[in-house]
Amino acid sequence: MLTPIELPSGLDTTEIPTEIHAMVHGAKQRIEAFQDRWDRPQIELFVAADYLHVYQTMRWVAESQMLNNSRFVEWGCGFAAITWLAAAVGWDSIGIESEPELIRQGETTLSDWQETLAAIPGAGPTPELVRGNFLPEGSETLAEDPTLPSLGHSIESAYASIGLDVDDFGIIYSYPWPGEDDFHEYVFHRYAAYGAVMVLFKGPNEMRVWRKTRGRS
Ligand SMILES: C[S@@+](CC[C@H](N)C(=O)[O-])C[C@H]1O[C@@H](n2cnc3c(N)ncnc32)[C@H](O)[C@@H]1O
Repeated sequence: MLTPIELPSGLDTTEIPTEIHAMVHGAKQRIEAFQDRWDRPQIELFVAADYLHVYQTMRWVAESQMLNNSRFVEWGCGFAAITWLAAAVGWDSIGIESEPELIRQGETTLSDWQETLAAIPGAGPTPELVRGNFLPEGSETLAEDPTLPSLGHSIESAYASIGLDVDDFGIIYSYPWPGEDDFHEYVFHRYAAYGAVMVLFKGPNEMRVWRKTRGRS
């Protein structure tokens, strides 16, 4: 079953290091410039989360929760800002994304902020980005609505090329589109390891954290 992990009140007011502020500011500027371009098609599936709030939540999870391991994966990493922030928290971080242009943008984020990451005490290794489908093979059948934005990406599931399965990750993050949070939770519930933690950004001021535990679902 999925057991909710209650987040402390005031989490979004916890202090944020200067270098994290700087990186988030820089990433947001690049995203705005990218989305303002009128001379190329927009990637409508990409919308950025509230990076500072996600960082505060991930840091709290890192400090307060037992994790199976420190392997982190971002489902649909876009500009890879959260993939980078997960490494800043200390995790061994991988981002999966289906859109090639977003993989390129994500690689730029990682190279722009590589030295900053390396200077953060306790940070994880330089993250890895993988172009592919974050859904494990066969998981589409868990969706009750075949039109969900996470479905129908004509690209191979990423896990074979990473050499890891969903149940090898101690922590998984996603920002589902409205109406597909249940589906992401079903996939996590079906494929993650017992004890794994899922962090969901559900919208402004709404983070949800789950642990997969034994018991009736
Ligand atoms: C709502 S955006 C979230 C971006 C980022 N995770 C964040 O929190 O700011 C969803 C991202 O997931 C990607 N995506 C959606 N479905 C996918 C799939 N099945 N496999 C890989 N990437 C997917 C989209 O291209 C988009 O970049």
